[in-house]
Amino acid sequence: MRLDGKGASMRILFIGDVVGQSGCDHVRAVLPSLKREYGIDITIANGENSAEGNGILPYSAKHLMDSGVDIITTGNHGLRRREIYDVMDEKNGIIRPANYHADAPGQGWYFYDHPKFPLCVVNLQGTVYMDSFQNPYECIDALLPQLPSRNIIVDFHAEATSEKLCMAYYLDGKISALLGTHTHVPTADARILPGGTGYMTDVGMCGGRDSVLGVKAQLAIRRMRTLLPTRFENEKENILLNGVIIEIDQKTGVCTKLNPVNI
Ligand SMILES: [Fe+2]
Ligand SMILES: [Fe+2]
Repeated sequence: MRLDGKGASMRILFIGDVVGQSGCDHVRAVLPSLKREYGIDITIANGENSAEGNGILPYSAKHLMDSGVDIITTGNHGLRRREIYDVMDEKNGIIRPANYHADAPGQGWYFYDHPKFPLCVVNLQGTVYMDSFQNPYECIDALLPQLPSRNIIVDFHAEATSEKLCMAYYLDGKISALLGTHTHVPTADARILPGGTGYMTDVGMCGGRDSVLGVKAQLAIRRMRTLLPTRFENEKENILLNGVIIEIDQKTGVCTKLNPVNI
């Protein structure tokens, strides 16, 4: 894949759920050259599984930021570890789903005040086959008028394909891109919707290729087959980074290109 011509476009790399230390290490190993090769202006990663033992911790967030990630989104595991609460604030660019309870720590969107390419990143969580948080439609309807830039990326962390598609068509023409996370498996439907919003049902993950969502396959099989409590460990071999490179016309906020990457 090669994207040519920059002009007034901003180029954003979005990386799917980074799993554990081996996922973080892979981001560190490949991100600098990826950014150089494709002229990436801003990098976003979903970090909800970046800590060993799941969730996100200050050390795993720092590891991703030190590796070149600018903004970290999360999801249903984002608030699992209390240690992250203190750093999940608007200064640090680490966000959790916006439709969580008002008492939840952190915030659900972030304005990246880049000198050339201002960008808003919103995190939302689905409610189909997931915990029933605030209706994500009501949440995004209330949020969109407050956002200070028309360049808007939404990480919709959701289980059901239908829920992601519905939200994408609902927001088509109102945001730059809606990217699905949570299932850890990249889908083959990356495209630009009729109104100019980029879309991919699930971006995938940065984790072991020969695994079940990043977990060692034999351990996942044991739990699935026997229903016995099983301590999960992440697969550490053959790590792949699944992501998507998006181009946005910074004047209009419209998505002009969207290409999945697998490294
Ligand atoms: Fe995840
Ligand atoms: Fe998740």
